[in-house]
Amino acid sequence: MTDASPLKGLILSGGKGTRLRPITYTSAKQLVPVANTPVLFFGIRSMVEAGITEIGIIIAPETGGEIRDAVGDGSQFGAKVTFIEQDSPAGLAHAVLTAERFLGDSPFVMYLGDNLLQGGIKGLVDRFQRDDPSALILVTRVDDPQSFGIVEFGPDGSVNRLVEKPKEPKSDLALVGVYLFKAAIHDAARAIEPSPRGELEITDAIQHLVNTGQTVLSERVEGWWKDTGKLADMLEANRLVLDTLHRSIKGELVDSEVEGRVVVGEGAVLERCSVRGPAVIGEGARISDAYIGPYTAVGVGCTVDHAEVEYSILLDGSSVSHMDHRVEGSLIGRDAKVERGPRMPKAIRLLIGDSSHVRLP
Ligand code: G1P
Repeated sequence: MTDASPLKGLILSGGKGTRLRPITYTSAKQLVPVANTPVLFFGIRSMVEAGITEIGIIIAPETGGEIRDAVGDGSQFGAKVTFIEQDSPAGLAHAVLTAERFLGDSPFVMYLGDNLLQGGIKGLVDRFQRDDPSALILVTRVDDPQSFGIVEFGPDGSVNRLVEKPKEPKSDLALVGVYLFKAAIHDAARAIEPSPRGELEITDAIQHLVNTGQTVLSERVEGWWKDTGKLADMLEANRLVLDTLHRSIKGELVDSEVEGRVVVGEGAVLERCSVRGPAVIGEGARISDAYIGPYTAVGVGCTVDHAEVEYSILLDGSSVSHMDHRVEGSLIGRDAKVERGPRMPKAIRLLIGDSSHVRLP
């Protein structure tokens, strides 16, 4: 590698998270937990695993405080974290420019804070340092290329064209939210114009590198990748991460059966329960006369009482009780309560946040 300075990390943790409302009215989407760990933490950890410890995190004015509180100075991850405020969500290339002072001339890994990449980034970092391109991008085949940045390849396999959310995609290979760049990306980001959605797209900045004859290499994702921007993806990411758990029971089990890969946190109490893993039950949770099915993450201090929950995420402090129907495919917000009322009158009573979604049997 000709560039002697070590790689820095840039994690994008701004944005509005509109597709995860109402959760994101009160919390940053990057802090929504997967297997009881904020999505953002997986990105930070994979950087540290790849030897990158100087990390800048782009935050938005609205949710930045919460992200600072959760991440701290980075020492809990073995990293040194600098927070960089982006005043408006004006695009990924705008975020790069916002971070220019922090990044200086260093090559860097840019990681979208709501993305999860199973295999980590160590292999990518090694290839970037070995092959020394201006950019190394990551692609994977997707079913809905209209929803992503898409890469078109030439007959020799080289990167030809990148298009952000094309209406008529010519390829189904999507850009994954992890990119490796040399400092040349700053000039490229300055050279482009805002896209039809009004953002400075990183896709266009990479296209500028291609157009000006710089080397842009690509790699296929091996293993799974998830962008957790939507409920279905969030639940799927939760499933994939729970699948990697090792059994560990620290809480108390009373007349309860716990099968398979289940983590029960300190101070949690399970009475007359059946838990079928993979599942995680947070510290101090109270689960009684309940069934917790596969791919469920129950947060810290939650209550589940006379209820069945499966393939769901319960955020800290929430409770589900006395339900006639199993709760499935659900994301329940912090301190939210789901319960059955008295038998009569047979009415539904709701107090739910803006943009909530309730589906009854
Ligand atoms: C962004 C990028 C897009 C990329 C995607 C990966 O999309 O603009 O090119 O494919 O992340 O998650 P956005 O999250 O802004 O819709």
